[in-house]
Amino acid sequence: MKKLLVTGSSGLIGSEVVDYFCQQGWEVYGIDNNMRADFFGPGGDTRWRQQNLLDTHKLFHHQELDIRHRQDVLTCMDGGTHCCPTQSRLGSVSTF
Ligand SMILES: NC(=O)c1ccc[n+]([C@@H]2O[C@H](COP(=O)([O-])OP(=O)(O)OC[C@H]3O[C@@H](n4cnc5c(N)ncnc54)[C@H](O)[C@@H]3O)[C@@H](O)[C@H]2O)c1
Repeated sequence: MKKLLVTGSSGLIGSEVVDYFCQQGWEVYGIDNNMRADFFGPGGDTRWRQQNLLDTHKLFHHQELDIRHRQDVLTCMDGGTHCCPTQSRLGSVSTF
């Protein structure tokens, strides 16, 4: 089974990426620490979307990590994992 790591997975773009790839049969690991609520206050909270993804997709796994902690992120990946970073301040798509 193909695996995808999505950073910023509870956000607007990241959560759509999760939705799409889970529907395609990929196993998706999402990293998000709700930093958006720190930036914007309670109105920016993305926990509802995180829970919605968990309720909707059996192939989705949430990881409560800060993307800036490189080693924690690397431990989420193995040799065959694709990566799609969509957290704030980064908006590119990469494949490893
Ligand atoms: N939304 C758009 O129309 C649009 C258009 C062009 C580019 N972009 C870019 O795409 C990226 C994502 O946009 P978006 O609208 O999905 O943003 P968003 O704020 O909805 O989602 C970003 C997510 O990243 C998480 N996050 C932030 N910092 C984190 C950290 N250090 N560790 C873990 N998680 C963290 C937040 O909690 C949030 O859930 C941004 O860089 C944005 O500038 C967005």
